[in-house]
Amino acid sequence: MVDSAASAPIRVLVVDDEENQRRGLASMIAVWGFQTETAADGQEALEKLPDFNPHVMITDLMMPRLDGFELLRRLGAQGNRVATIVLTAFGNIETAIATVHDLGAFWFMEKPIKADVLRALLGRAAAQSRMAEETERLQRQLSYRGVLGDLVGSSQPMQEVYSLIRQVAPSKAAVLITGESGTGKELVARALHQLGARSGGPFVAINCAALPETLIESELFGHEKAAFTGAVERRAGCFELAQRGTLLLDEIAEMPASTQAKLLRVLEDSRVRRLGGKSEIEVDVRLVAATNRPVPEALESGRLRGDLYYRLNVFQIALPPLRNRLEDLPQLTEALLTDLNRKHNTRVAGAEDAVLDRFRRYSWPGNVRELRNVLERAVVLAGEGVLSTGYLPPGFGDSVALPVTAAAGPGAVTLPVGTKVSEAEKALILSTLAHAGNNRTRAAEILGISLKTLFNKLKEYNSETDS
Ligand SMILES: Nc1ncnc2c1ncn2[C@@H]1O[C@H](COP(=O)(O)OP(=O)(O)OP(=O)(O)O)[C@@H](O)[C@H]1O
Ligand SMILES: [Mg+2]
Repeated sequence: MVDSAASAPIRVLVVDDEENQRRGLASMIAVWGFQTETAADGQEALEKLPDFNPHVMITDLMMPRLDGFELLRRLGAQGNRVATIVLTAFGNIETAIATVHDLGAFWFMEKPIKADVLRALLGRAAAQSRMAEETERLQRQLSYRGVLGDLVGSSQPMQEVYSLIRQVAPSKAAVLITGESGTGKELVARALHQLGARSGGPFVAINCAALPETLIESELFGHEKAAFTGAVERRAGCFELAQRGTLLLDEIAEMPASTQAKLLRVLEDSRVRRLGGKSEIEVDVRLVAATNRPVPEALESGRLRGDLYYRLNVFQIALPPLRNRLEDLPQLTEALLTDLNRKHNTRVAGAEDAVLDRFRRYSWPGNVRELRNVLERAVVLAGEGVLSTGYLPPGFGDSVALPVTAAAGPGAVTLPVGTKVSEAEKALILSTLAHAGNNRTRAAEILGISLKTLFNKLKEYNSETDS
């Protein structure tokens, strides 16, 4: 395969307010075969970056309008990871290290510039940049084939999820992941981490539902020795552990309201104080939260504080339930079988069409986790060969007789694609009747039909079940 990108010249942006230095550098670099562009300060660099899209940037630190530190900070916030060589004053090693360590510069170079050192550095920075470009290209290609991180599925709803993940992963913006249980929220959180600038840092997950109220704050914020009975040792909390990485707050709506208030404060100040601690610790953490509760409901019932929700919901990624992307079943089955074969040391080669047919007719209330469980049982029983329907749990899919299922939330009807209008009408009428406590007059009112029509419909349904 011809890789056109590899033969195109490496683009280098030179940012320096001293005109002589800027021009001199640019022409020297151009002679080495790089394509160059210049900017007189950070502001101009920010303006030129999107169009020129350099592989490497060489920047001075002290500049008018917008200096080199601020330039790097802004690029970091935008998720722009252009490999940057920072020019520093001779002997100022502390500043140099700070730019590399805190601002993520590729490397630093003391002035006056030594041509051979710069050339070697440029070569290395360019190689890193090319590699990042290549990784991104491969990831893109994979996600078009229906795989992103550990997520599988090429259906339209999943493509939309991948596209959102790719867009928001590079930034530090908070993300709220919603979706029913077992739809892959944790996998999305991991993909956000892996595809972002923080992939080298830690990924820490805390399940707010699994912890008793008394423990959750010490888990989140840490505690000093003897902060409370049982605190025998000082301990860092999740925020500190996730420093420069990603923190997943799983099942956020299960977090006690008082803890949610404290969490909000930490997010606003980017600082935590350990329980029983005196000083505050600065934290640099990308926050991802997940919930399987429908958000409007969680807000209304007060389980999720509105102010915290607005702080977390900078981006929302809503995962589709499996029943809305049944076309992904063959691909999911294949990927899960590969994984399960590895786990159980089995050699199951696939599933018969009849199995997939059954899968397609099922509504999967437990989503991909349920599919995985069904397949895991089958893999263990079969050990090898192609799975037949005999390996499915007894009674599997019996509930498919009802194509219309009531949604998890009360007062809602979920209609899988493929539902007939008559079936949808029946489901709506029956669930409204149930909602109205079997009061037919009230149900007819809600439905906006006459009592007579309602009676007729019910009679029709009754004769259906009789026949
Ligand atoms: N798109 C997917 N491709 C492959 N595997 C998936 C996908 N979605 C979910 N899974 C698998 O399904 C299981 C459940 O996924 P995960 O734990 O991410 O769900 P969740 O949405 O966090 O569920 P819960 O709300 O119950 O915590 C895992 O084993 C995961 O690997
Ligand atoms: Mg989860």
